Amino acid sequence: MFKIHKRITLATVLMLSTTSIAFSQTKKAVYLDKNAPIETRVKDLLGRMTLEEKAGQLNQINYGMFTGPDNKVDGEQKKLDLVRQGKIGSFLNTLGVVKIKKVQQIAVEQSRLKIPLLFGFDVIHGYRTLFPIPLAEACSWDMEQVFQNSRIAAKESAASGLNWAFAPMCDVSNDPRWGRVMEGAGEDPYYGSVIAAARVKGFQGNLDGVFDILACVKHFAVYGAVEAGREYNNVDVSRVAFYNKYLPPYTAAIKSGAATVMTSFNVFDGVPASGNSFLLTDILQNRLGFKGFVVSDWNAFAEMIAHGYAEDKKDAVYKALKAGSMMDMESRTAIAFLPELVKEGKLTEAEVDKAVGAILYYKFKLGLFENPYKFLDEKREKENVFNAENRKVAREAAKKSILLLKNNNEVLPLKNPNQKIALIGFYANSKPDMVDMWKASADAHDCLTIHEGLKKQFSNITFVDGYKQDNSTSPELINQAVKNAENAEVVIINIGITGNLSGEDKSLADIAIAQGQVELLKALKKTGKPIITLVSSGRPMILNEVQGLSDALVQCWVLGTETGNAVAEVLSGKYNPSAKTVMSFPYSLGQIPVYYNHFNTGRPAGEPNAKEKPTDFYSRFHDIPNEPFYPFGYGLSYTTFNYSNLKTSAPVMDEKGSLSVSVDLQNSGKYDGEEVVQLYIQDVTASIVRPVKELKAFKKLLLKTGEKTTVEFKITPNDLSFFDQNGNSILEKGKFKVYVGGNSRDVLAALFELK
Ligand code: BGC
Repeated sequence: MFKIHKRITLATVLMLSTTSIAFSQTKKAVYLDKNAPIETRVKDLLGRMTLEEKAGQLNQINYGMFTGPDNKVDGEQKKLDLVRQGKIGSFLNTLGVVKIKKVQQIAVEQSRLKIPLLFGFDVIHGYRTLFPIPLAEACSWDMEQVFQNSRIAAKESAASGLNWAFAPMCDVSNDPRWGRVMEGAGEDPYYGSVIAAARVKGFQGNLDGVFDILACVKHFAVYGAVEAGREYNNVDVSRVAFYNKYLPPYTAAIKSGAATVMTSFNVFDGVPASGNSFLLTDILQNRLGFKGFVVSDWNAFAEMIAHGYAEDKKDAVYKALKAGSMMDMESRTAIAFLPELVKEGKLTEAEVDKAVGAILYYKFKLGLFENPYKFLDEKREKENVFNAENRKVAREAAKKSILLLKNNNEVLPLKNPNQKIALIGFYANSKPDMVDMWKASADAHDCLTIHEGLKKQFSNITFVDGYKQDNSTSPELINQAVKNAENAEVVIINIGITGNLSGEDKSLADIAIAQGQVELLKALKKTGKPIITLVSSGRPMILNEVQGLSDALVQCWVLGTETGNAVAEVLSGKYNPSAKTVMSFPYSLGQIPVYYNHFNTGRPAGEPNAKEKPTDFYSRFHDIPNEPFYPFGYGLSYTTFNYSNLKTSAPVMDEKGSLSVSVDLQNSGKYDGEEVVQLYIQDVTASIVRPVKELKAFKKLLLKTGEKTTVEFKITPNDLSFFDQNGNSILEKGKFKVYVGGNSRDVLAALFELK
């Protein structure tokens, strides 16, 4: 009896004590109460954390792939130990549900406070199903498509265990030497803003579903202006350019709810972005009201030492946090020095809490405290990654990204599926070149080459390389190609640069088409056969010589998984091309940077088509035109469009009113087709010189052959305002020109006044 009683008592005591511990923990641990407001939970959790654990939340390190300087010494076990100790807040480059689950489990089951980890990755244009590179995708001018592309990228990433994409890149750039132009939306701030918003919404949804992941606006700020397009280089822009040209896309992304922002590698006004309080506090927090968290770019805290802005790593993290940076990607300065800096009184705990709190906020927001395995479902991974549905969307996106630049004598589309086609060009048959360095988790073998795609639509194709992988050729290769051409009715040649030469660290000083490829093209031209040239590249290249040698010229960019199918649909006419370039194609290297929205000089060269031009001592090159080879907004269709009858609803607009602008548009060609109608504005005289044209609106519409319609736009005061050197929005009375057309050069014009 006693024994039993004793046993009962012990068990009861034990039970009671566990219950009371659990009870007291539940009671105390407000942060674990899913019904408490997030702010309250964050505050509660911060109150329980040691300084070392707070530093841990600011520490993001690389799990797999690439090896950074410190990475060499850290094996997987060491990293997992750091997780156990609460010294890591986030990993990048951990892939797949199985692996991520293993790591997350350690964080939420073995660390003291069980704070879940964030897992980030560069999902630039898809995770496993690769969409066209962002620059190409932007040429579609189709926001629903852009949204869908990011949505699927998010879906595949989330299904694979990730909860954070390092995208979209919102850097405006007009320098095709920069390999990263492929990640952006081109040279226009307004268009870049529309795209940025669509991409953020695609990634994040409402941030409450199992496919909604954090987006990251990068690289803040002005990274697109790196001098000479050389990666990691200096940036030096005026405040007027900062506010009017570079800031709008970041702003749009943030206003669309982007949860995170990544600092850039460059300096701004002499201060590296990660330590720049003007950028991170005055602009990002105070002006844009950004409430999310800031992550540095890779090792960027520590790189402030090489910049000559920080003495050592301790100084670097001090300056970074003071300026408004938060999470440290890969330089491990926070984990090493933050507690010390607080103890020395250099950083206050409130400053640290602000950074840590912002990160914790999103861990709560994503629901990771309730369910740290929310994104970790193997069945979901299997079902949602690289399925037929995703590939279908990628195919649509790829078709819409293909840019028709020239089409003499209607050589395209190729209507006869049995036509004898000579297909020439190493890339056309090279799976690795269907992807680029930001291939994420894609497998090049999943991608359909141009050769494979064309074979599905055309029965009579013979293929030869024509040039080697390094773009050089040889008499033998040229002979083979010429023979192939002579036996065919039409030649399709695929040239350009390897997919892997676009993206980070892929700056090129020379963006001309390789000599070997030009030589090959010249030899093919002599056969007298019609030549269709396909250019594969992650940036606009210099195409003037190539254009002269080609009957049709098609910019195919880097299109990803569905490359072959998309190219074949366009060449066969199953899809009528509708893309318009979002970056000017330079006439020659020496012309860079060349962009449509430039200022007038005091000695302008005049409109491209003007009858009277100045004769001497005006702003020009003596050896090439001022205008780009292909202007912003340019792209052909198999049909033609006529613009006429541009009208404004009144000659005068009131400061508080609006004005309607209409233009008649007719499909005057033989095919049904889509046109992107573009509206530009010029503020003729202002207190700050304004660009010769600025895109303010566009509409993409489908017209059947012969169909005519009137396209209407509304101009509001917002379209006419600009920012001064201090970032104040200014609306000034006076004359404005409005231009409407199918590209930034060939436009109709009307004048109105703002009173
Ligand atoms: C790039 C970022 C990227 C990061 C993480 C950096 O080198 O500049 O765009 O998100 O690495 O991979």
